[in-house]
Amino acid sequence: MSEPVSRTVAERLLQALVGLVKVQALYPEGHGAEARARKTLAEVLHQVLGGGESLLLGCRDGYLVVGDVPFIGDGGSAAEVVAWLDARGAEGVTLRPGVRAEEVAAFCRWLRNAGPDPWQGERLVLTRLARGKEEWQKGLKAYRKALDAVQEVYEDLAEGRHPDPTRGRESVREFSALLQESPEVIQGLSLIKDYDRYTYHHSVNVCLLALRVGQQWRLSAHELETLGMGGLFHDIGKTRTPAAVVRKAGPLTAQEWAAMCRHPEQGRELVEEMALLPPDSTLLVYEHHMHHNGGGYPGRAPGYRVHPLSSVISVSDVCDAMTSHRSYNRPLSLPGAMQQLEQLRGKTLDPAAVDMLLAVLGPVPLGAVVRLPSGELGVVVAVSGEDEAVAVRVVRTTTGEELDPATGPVLHLGSGRDLHPVDPLAHRISPVEVLQHGS
Ligand SMILES: [Fe+2]
Repeated sequence: MSEPVSRTVAERLLQALVGLVKVQALYPEGHGAEARARKTLAEVLHQVLGGGESLLLGCRDGYLVVGDVPFIGDGGSAAEVVAWLDARGAEGVTLRPGVRAEEVAAFCRWLRNAGPDPWQGERLVLTRLARGKEEWQKGLKAYRKALDAVQEVYEDLAEGRHPDPTRGRESVREFSALLQESPEVIQGLSLIKDYDRYTYHHSVNVCLLALRVGQQWRLSAHELETLGMGGLFHDIGKTRTPAAVVRKAGPLTAQEWAAMCRHPEQGRELVEEMALLPPDSTLLVYEHHMHHNGGGYPGRAPGYRVHPLSSVISVSDVCDAMTSHRSYNRPLSLPGAMQQLEQLRGKTLDPAAVDMLLAVLGPVPLGAVVRLPSGELGVVVAVSGEDEAVAVRVVRTTTGEELDPATGPVLHLGSGRDLHPVDPLAHRISPVEVLQHGS
């Protein structure tokens, strides 16, 4: 067996490849500079592929991998190659032993948009992103950006700086655009959970669920933005709640509860003082804990009418909170949360908003972790709204053997009636990890 590629060699290959792409942009084919860059690349290729093993140079979760060497947080050549591959709709390229420098040179021309499309090489095989997977990559990128945007605003507020909501607004617009292309990606992204960064993930997830409901409600682009911004920053007032109260595991004392209940008003004050959000989004921040039956907080005068979009934030808030792992509760599965929402319908939660969210999630929600009648565990990766057919990717065999989330078999079932929901946490299954490989 040949040795794995070392970081030094992977770096040399990367430099030689980027060097050739750049030289090609400046000089015609056959020019001395181009010939030298090509020779350098040929030497590195000889070193890398001399052992007789193929090598993959490609993109994984947004960063470049050369062989088994990841280039994380490397803003230079690696980021350039990722951007070029991305622009060409490619995931990566497999270099096979015997590949000639001329072939790689032709690939480099293609990479910077100057070669024929589609690319075809004998010893240099391009991996194209499957449809669906490409949209997931886009969605995951937008998700990470939204997460950072919320965190930045929260940290600025905590440290007394004036926050800038621009990146948050950009994220909401990116989500809205993706909502038109692939609503299932927006819905699937809302299943990303992270115990340690709960506050930020919760903010993004509420934004995503609310947008999905808003789309079903046929809201205008402007209304979707209002709703998305309200969702992303609905809990901004908690930056004024004592951290010990926000993080407390277990029931709050009366005094702590009173402090917690101030966060919608404090949120509105903050947002208004700093002119962070448009007026309607500010209202959603203020009203997101007002209950349909008149309860909740802050208190309101008789006859006060809650904005219909606030009800969408409330129901999305409750749904994500129930399905997330927080310090004081074990999460419900998505179908379990849907049953709870049904219980709260018309009581604390607005019935129209609950109906809309339940309709969006469907009888068998996308991303649900289920046990098949034959005993295997899988994740629902596609749902047909028309005939209720579902596709399930199997991730555990009946003996508990783990299958690859990208390559486990996908079963197409006429209905989801015989699927039994199970707890994703108990089985250590991340629905998003499975969903992003498409169906
Ligand atoms: Fe809240």
